[in-house]
Amino acid sequence: MSKKLFYPCAGKDWKDAFHYFQKEIDEFIFCDLQYKFNFKNLKNFEINHEEFERVSFFIKPFVKIHDHTSNIENIKLIPAEYIQFIKYKTSNIRKKIIFKIQSGQDCLDQFNENEIYVFFHRGDSTGEGGSDLHFFSDKRNSSGAAENLYSKLIKKLAPISYVVSDGSNNEIIERQNLNLKNMTDEQISNEIIGKKNFTYQNFQWFCVKRLNDRYGPTLVWKVVRDNPFKIDKPL
Ligand SMILES: C[S@@+](CC[C@H](N)C(=O)[O-])C[C@H]1O[C@@H](n2cnc3c(N)ncnc32)[C@H](O)[C@@H]1O
Repeated sequence: MSKKLFYPCAGKDWKDAFHYFQKEIDEFIFCDLQYKFNFKNLKNFEINHEEFERVSFFIKPFVKIHDHTSNIENIKLIPAEYIQFIKYKTSNIRKKIIFKIQSGQDCLDQFNENEIYVFFHRGDSTGEGGSDLHFFSDKRNSSGAAENLYSKLIKKLAPISYVVSDGSNNEIIERQNLNLKNMTDEQISNEIIGKKNFTYQNFQWFCVKRLNDRYGPTLVWKVVRDNPFKIDKPL
């Protein structure tokens, strides 16, 4: 099965996600409401890694379908997508990279169960410029446009998956009171990476790695579903 990385509200930070997971991941899905695909800015989505060459690319336009037959209010939106296939210059291993102009919550809905191998989300907030999306709780966001994201996300995560987070908009990490901002790099490396683990609902979280900082240290958590039949009340 192809391994997928999903980064909602990615902005320009998709480059770091690609950089860190280019070897392991087959398909990258980045979405952001503010992406624009026109000839002037398509170069912003180019993969400038020496070892890759582009095989093909195409753009699917944004489509609005009005279903007049049943209800004039019934509008289906198909998001714009910029899809690229690249390959290693030295082998035939291909990668698919999809950029979507779509909300993070709608994009999440489109994944099948157990399909997301890496869930990457950081640098976000509830303030101005932030998405106010909470993928690690079921609470409704302030505009009312998204809720129950955690319950949806856990169904889409592979039984063994990786969650990358700098703690922003992440209520599960918040509950651990890790106090990372007051720790030195050495303390984080000695006490957190490879050491910190906890269980939340029927998932075990193990801290396996640190990436570059965003709003705080970005940690990679291996998230293992232990007993699919045990369901506690979410946050
Ligand atoms: C604070 S920026 C963070 C961008 C990126 N994660 C980073 O670390 O640089 C938040 C981004 O979320 C996007 N955004 C806001 N609401 C969104 C939504 N509902 N769905 C998808 N993207 C959204 C904004 O366009 C913006 O690019």
